[in-house]
Amino acid sequence: MRQVLTRIEQADALDGASDKLQAAVSSAVRPRTLRDLLHGTWMGHPLHPVLVQVPVGAFLSAAVLDALPSRSPSSRSRASGSGDRASTVLIGVGLAGVLPAAVAGWVDWSELTKDRRRVGLVHAVTNLVATGLYASSLAARLTGRTKQGKALAYAGLSVAGVGAFLGGHLSYTQGAGISHAAPEVARVPEGWTVAGSLSSLPEGKPAARRVGDTAVLLFRQGDRVTALIDRCSHEGGPLSEGQVSDGCVVCPWHGSTFRLDDGAVVHGPAGNDQPVLPVRVRDGLVEVRRP
Ligand code: FES
Repeated sequence: MRQVLTRIEQADALDGASDKLQAAVSSAVRPRTLRDLLHGTWMGHPLHPVLVQVPVGAFLSAAVLDALPSRSPSSRSRASGSGDRASTVLIGVGLAGVLPAAVAGWVDWSELTKDRRRVGLVHAVTNLVATGLYASSLAARLTGRTKQGKALAYAGLSVAGVGAFLGGHLSYTQGAGISHAAPEVARVPEGWTVAGSLSSLPEGKPAARRVGDTAVLLFRQGDRVTALIDRCSHEGGPLSEGQVSDGCVVCPWHGSTFRLDDGAVVHGPAGNDQPVLPVRVRDGLVEVRRP
């Protein structure tokens, strides 16, 4: 399995199609507000994994209902009929949920590096095949071919399982969509730790400091200082090298924008907020600790 995944990651034959699709997705979903909506910026969490719960839940529930035996010979026909109807409705609901989940997924995909786009492309094609099988299952059920409909749905579930496995690899092994800043928080000392002197901080500009092993961004306005993890939650860019405007810092790598007060993501491609650290000023020294 690992060898297959490595081959997909290294399959540069996919890059031609991947580059064309990336350009198509970027031009089809151009307005920044729409991209932010689909990235999940508005809720500080990627939207795609939330939306996929609809088809996954509906398809799995339909599979369970399809596997249930009738309760008794006398009620067999009635029970079986209502179970089949419920499965058909669930598969319809799952299919309706595929489009929004796919659109959000494509927008996230269009911001990924080449190796992750290769895995994402195979993930998308696999899910497309699964969707086709479920659509055929729905058509079979609606025309009275229940047995065939069940077989097609189980085939769809198997293919969707492969798609889910690839999606999990993309997130948990390749780090797509996860917060690259969150692991840094655990490395900040638990107790108050000096990050530098207040007088050394420029007014209204981000400054990079280290607290223990962790790079932090300090932002001073008068006597007030806010502290964020310096590693951008999107892909780990150095936020302290970004521009500040309207109370936000803009990441120099891909333009994700975070509020300096509370770390909330205002514009993507980041879907995750930026962690903020507690700060106090004592005897002219700025101290920071783990939340
Ligand atoms: S690393 Fe991509 S926006 Fe910061």
